[in-house]
Amino acid sequence: MKYDVINKSLFIKNRRNFIEKMKPKSIAFFNSNDLYPVSADTTLPFEQHRDFFYLSGIDQEESILLLFKNENNSETKEILFLIKPNSTLTHWEGEKICAKKAFIISGVKTVHWLEDLENITEKLISSVENIYTNNNEHYRAKVVTETREARFNKWIQKKYSNKKIERSNPILQQLRAVKDSIEIELIKKACDITEKGFRRVLSFVKPGVWEYEIEAEFSHEFLKNRSRKFAYSPIIASGANSNILHYIENNNQCKDGDVILLDVGAEYANYSSDMTRTIPVSGKFNSRQKEVYQAVLNVKNEATSLLKPGVLWREHHSEVGKIMCSELLKLGLLDKSDVQNQTKLNPAYKKYFTHGTSHHLGLDTHDYGDINLPIQANNVFTVEPGIYIQQEGFGIRLEDDVIVQENGNPINLMKNIPIEIEEIESLMNSK
Ligand code: GLY
Ligand code: MN
Ligand code: MN
Repeated sequence: MKYDVINKSLFIKNRRNFIEKMKPKSIAFFNSNDLYPVSADTTLPFEQHRDFFYLSGIDQEESILLLFKNENNSETKEILFLIKPNSTLTHWEGEKICAKKAFIISGVKTVHWLEDLENITEKLISSVENIYTNNNEHYRAKVVTETREARFNKWIQKKYSNKKIERSNPILQQLRAVKDSIEIELIKKACDITEKGFRRVLSFVKPGVWEYEIEAEFSHEFLKNRSRKFAYSPIIASGANSNILHYIENNNQCKDGDVILLDVGAEYANYSSDMTRTIPVSGKFNSRQKEVYQAVLNVKNEATSLLKPGVLWREHHSEVGKIMCSELLKLGLLDKSDVQNQTKLNPAYKKYFTHGTSHHLGLDTHDYGDINLPIQANNVFTVEPGIYIQQEGFGIRLEDDVIVQENGNPINLMKNIPIEIEEIESLMNSK
């Protein structure tokens, strides 16, 4: 792995927290991801299943974690099943994780080869009443392929059809939403790498550069700093492309007088950062771009200060909507009649601010977290207002990542990433 070793106390604690929430006489299974095929013998680069990583730190395919809670034996069993190394595999792919290394990474003391899973499960299962299986229940998930986990779940449910099936996902959604200090360090590291990429881009952009050249600058800085890749498909959207929320073609030339919306974040150790900055191609915003930019920045700052423990995510969105509405009135984009005619379901601001303000961030960019529960300390959220003006041919979005604090004053993990108009312009012109 490119990232530095993670303190295994994180994974030990995560498993302990999960087991505490399991019913007695239960067993839980978590699967790594498949290596997804493209065609012929090509596969996509491996991406570990984030739940499996959260509970084990093991970043290798074909792995299973078993957690066993037995009320007759207060000592909880934790077992990792890994690919059995062989000389051919070692020759082609290098060392696979052995039992000793698995313990160093994860703190799991019992490691078996994957081929022994069936036998070992058979021995444990007689005292088990419930089997916890893990399904993707994220509110934005659309899964059309059958994952390794889904195949496993089918198999175990059929084989042990006399056992009660319990869901792991609600427990994981609850646990993963509240970040440990080790996780916050990893997210911060991802944010710092993103900052390096952005600073590099500020001194690179000039009229005539291509969006993909900017993408390459980010990529260079990310890889150089131990990030494996972009945390999500980067959006490098110049001119009218800045009005396309998920523009990922990145194949246009940047023209003098236009803005470029950069929604880009590095991953680090599987943790995401998620940043958006909007900059002028020429190094100077025109006066209209400036006023829209300042409006978005005002909304972002106020939206950040409203992220406090106890607040409901939906309430936060509607409060931010009101702030946005007043900025849109000042910009002349809305008038009084728009506001008079708005409804709760269709507020006036939605004409120009067409997406949500915040999402949880962590091992997934759109991370776990029940958005119906009040916001808690150590939730990490993005704050990302935007104004998209089709008739003027440009959009502005600004996005930072923040940690909710018990004292009500969130910490901005991106506070060092230039965002003020003067700073952006000054850095772009200081060659
Ligand atoms: N980059 C995706 C998002 O901001 O949610
Ligand atoms: Mn983003
Ligand atoms: Mn985001």
